[in-house]
Amino acid sequence: QLGLKTKRFGWSVYDQESVPSTQQLAHQLAHEGAEEGTVVIAEEQTAGRGRLNRSWHSPKGTGIWMSIILRPSIPLQQAPQLTLLVAVAVAQTIQEITNIVPDIKWPNDILINGKKVAGILTELQADPDQVRAVIVGIGMNVNQKQFPNDIAPIATSLAIETGRTFHRPKIVQTLLQKLEQLYEQYLQHGFLPIKLLWEGYSVTIGQQIVARTLNGAIRGVALGITDSGTLKVQTEDGAVHYIYSADIEIKKQ
Ligand code: BTN
Repeated sequence: QLGLKTKRFGWSVYDQESVPSTQQLAHQLAHEGAEEGTVVIAEEQTAGRGRLNRSWHSPKGTGIWMSIILRPSIPLQQAPQLTLLVAVAVAQTIQEITNIVPDIKWPNDILINGKKVAGILTELQADPDQVRAVIVGIGMNVNQKQFPNDIAPIATSLAIETGRTFHRPKIVQTLLQKLEQLYEQYLQHGFLPIKLLWEGYSVTIGQQIVARTLNGAIRGVALGITDSGTLKVQTEDGAVHYIYSADIEIKKQ
């Protein structure tokens, strides 16, 4: 039905009309042993979740709300690499479909003209030191013509940016293809090639930023990302911090 051209992703597709959250359903399936590449996708989410306990606006039939189960054999501390890999796949997909080159704000925001068009939520099922499953949730705003007032200033869609409407199954097909390509490259050659692609889309590196983490805010210059996918930030006193997860504000120069 989706016309997939992938080898391992999407053999098992749970195509749902309405679910609380594809992420939740994918977690459950992964617990039950669902294989790598299992895709859960829904027309509507009634309780879509974003990072940091935020909700994710997922109205019926307008966007792509999906979660994918990956089972890489990597140590826990390499898991952030996968968020960056997925961000590259989403950025490449948007670029191919619209000809617009989107920006990536570390770690997972995909922006067009400074507004968020897609987000990624990476969650783990793990043993103490090894990943058992990575549940990757992708939300992409596609055909929305407008957003609720509270998010209108920060959100956009492919339709708003291009004045066109899009056939969502085609986007899903492209996205899964890119994702599979990058994932295979990652398993064979490691993170470095992915990191280079990511840097090409990045609007974070070299900028003055504020990183808000659970332990407080860090202000400084984003120097780059490390080989494990963490963000390297230098504060004014010269100290270098490695940030695993945060919300980033880019300061206007
Ligand atoms: C973020 O930017 O905060 C991440 C947003 C992730 C949203 C997607 S939509 C499909 C999947 N199911 C969810 O409940 N969340 C993710």
